[in-house]
Amino acid sequence: MLEQTVPIVSNERDTDRYFRLVVRAPQIALLVQPGQFAHLRILSLKDALLRRPFSIFQVAGETFSILYKAVGKGTDALSRMRPGEELSVIGPLGHGFTVPKPGGETPLLVAGGYGMAAMYLLAQRSPQKGLVFVGGRRRADILCEQEFRALGWEIRVTTEDGSHGEKGLVTQPLLAELRRGTVGRKLFACGPTPMLKAVGQFADEFNVPAELSMDEHMCCGVGVCLTCVIPVKVGESWEYQRTCTEGPVFDSRRIVWETAN
Ligand SMILES: Cc1cc2nc3c(=O)[nH]c(=O)nc-3n(C[C@H](O)[C@H](O)[C@H](O)COP(=O)(O)OP(=O)(O)OC[C@H]3O[C@@H](n4cnc5c(N)ncnc54)[C@H](O)[C@@H]3O)c2cc1C
Ligand code: FES
Repeated sequence: MLEQTVPIVSNERDTDRYFRLVVRAPQIALLVQPGQFAHLRILSLKDALLRRPFSIFQVAGETFSILYKAVGKGTDALSRMRPGEELSVIGPLGHGFTVPKPGGETPLLVAGGYGMAAMYLLAQRSPQKGLVFVGGRRRADILCEQEFRALGWEIRVTTEDGSHGEKGLVTQPLLAELRRGTVGRKLFACGPTPMLKAVGQFADEFNVPAELSMDEHMCCGVGVCLTCVIPVKVGESWEYQRTCTEGPVFDSRRIVWETAN
């Protein structure tokens, strides 16, 4: 984990309120594992002592990128930043996904909205190609579809308004696929908590392993403030664990959904 002030290489609109930000950060880029995140301090925000966490989307040479949605003060300010301006970055942070081993399980990736950002490096580094289930409210929420296809992955798209792909929730085609067979398959998911909970229930019901990237509000990002804790099973009991350090990726069997938000 490193803390560095790094220059923006590009910061361009992807669709609607989604943007792609590329920064030059050779030492951080070298260390990134799929599912890890970067904690950004937007130096142009006067009252922004607080950092914002973003999954590391892609790594290319000396750069890494994030794919983010402008939802509030920090991300709006970020979307106005230009190449050459600087950001303070701590990264790579957190415990990411387990990359499948050669000849190991076939991955089924499940993503809602910007959850796709956490999935790209996993798909790229997995020796087995699998299936990606991606869902969003509408067409503009479906991100980097072509990039996953270019990696040779099959992709199933759902939108709640039916403007792209199948109409409905991302869990519908996933359920149909799990009914077709689960042997040698493993689920990996990133997205809103209700989606993660549904994937966790499928994992139990179909007895298929699953790793879930939990989306909790974070402050320090490095294990100090305890803002980001969730209840996690430990032996016969449970304890609060930090999504920024023990997570954000957890084995779904360990998450205690009854007390999680
Ligand atoms: C591990 C991790 C990885 C993430 N990866 C990405 C990513 O790849 N792309 C991306 O666009 N976003 C990602 N997020 C969410 C991102 O951190 C928030 O959207 C961002 O911090 C909002 O900052 P803001 O100042 O613009 O919003 P604020 O003004 O602080 O809040 C605006 C709205 O965003 C909501 N919000 C704030 N934090 C979160 C959060 N963690 N999850 C859901 N809603 C939130 C607030 O409740 C509020 O409704 C990730 C979050 C975590 C914890
Ligand atoms: S965000 Fe501070 S402990 Fe996790």
